Amino acid sequence: MSPLSSQKYKFSLPNDISYLNCAYMGPLLQTVEAAGIEGLKKKSQPYQISPADFFSEVEKLKRLYAQLLNVDESQRIAIVPSTSYGLATAAKNSPIKKGQNIVVLDEQFPSNVYTWQRLAEEKGAEVRFVDTPKNIVGRGKAWNESILQAIDNQTAIVAMPHVHWADGTKYDLKAIGKKVHAAGGLLIIDGTQSVGALPFDVAEIKPDALVCGGYKWLLGGYSFGLAYYGEAFDNGTPIEENWTNRLDSEDFRGLVNYQPKYKSFANRYAVGQQSHFINTPMAIAALNQILEWTPEGIQRYAEGLLKEPMGALQNLGCIMEEEAFRGNHLVGLHLPEHINLEKLQARFAAEKVIVSVRGNAIRISTHVYNEAQDFEKLLACFR
Ligand SMILES: Cc1ncc(COP(=O)(O)O)c(C=O)c1O
Repeated sequence: MSPLSSQKYKFSLPNDISYLNCAYMGPLLQTVEAAGIEGLKKKSQPYQISPADFFSEVEKLKRLYAQLLNVDESQRIAIVPSTSYGLATAAKNSPIKKGQNIVVLDEQFPSNVYTWQRLAEEKGAEVRFVDTPKNIVGRGKAWNESILQAIDNQTAIVAMPHVHWADGTKYDLKAIGKKVHAAGGLLIIDGTQSVGALPFDVAEIKPDALVCGGYKWLLGGYSFGLAYYGEAFDNGTPIEENWTNRLDSEDFRGLVNYQPKYKSFANRYAVGQQSHFINTPMAIAALNQILEWTPEGIQRYAEGLLKEPMGALQNLGCIMEEEAFRGNHLVGLHLPEHINLEKLQARFAAEKVIVSVRGNAIRISTHVYNEAQDFEKLLACFR
């Protein structure tokens, strides 16, 4: 496939804004915005929404998402409103006993920490945080190694991301999954800061659950997300009882023949009102485009943009994860002491360079609407 060129013309971002902040909120593609408006308008003429529409669009969306993740069975995908919701479902159905442990990372995103703290409290288990290594050189490698060391035969769950939301460190989920599975535990991934922009192959990594908020790298609306649940969750119980999750709910006339059986696979875990008539067509349009670009293509495009500026930022004393332990879509820059963060933020504001400050790192997130001039402006602010 030929390398991507700038796709900025497909978005509505103004030319004077350098938006390096998809990790905060992805902008809408023009096609996605149009799909959302179309969905909104349908609600003004509700006779246009048929009973079949409650299911057919969701099915289409799940098939596209399964394709993105290399999942054979789209029934393993559930619509969720947030990462925390999808994780709560995983927590409710994860077997864990008193004295066992749940491994998470230092400064992991709170939705993927509070969920496990509550479960551990309820079950008398331990939440085991894996610290960020202090060394700067070889940090990513050392962090991956200490995660492996933290997993023991009492580990019931490893709950972590593919890349760290603040500094972009990438983890070897295949090796971590192997170790936790050998211990009889589950691998539960928050893919919110990676899926869509970084390749994720479920058949290769074998997570037991993979939950993603959809408004960042999946370029969808807010209050929308997607969750994959593997075999470990096939016979679980949802966190709420909505009518669509029961067997044969497509038959509107038979809905009050109350049905004790859930649908198969992950179909039992969908949020109530999963057939969101605005977010669903938006997500379909976004996924169609992401599948055309491919996450590999997005990574390559971002790599081309980052190469020179990252070298220049290193020369200015900024520290970032080495390439082997990060993606190109999300990079955290740790500042040298001589750079004053407040002054730098004032320069960013003046130059309309939009980035995030997370912890003590400046987070740069890059997508196919970014161009070389965005990084020229970023560098000028540092200089
Ligand atoms: C890694 C990660 N997970 C999840 C979320 C959002 O969580 P929720 O969908 O529970 O609001 C964010 C938001 O920034 C995030 O960075």
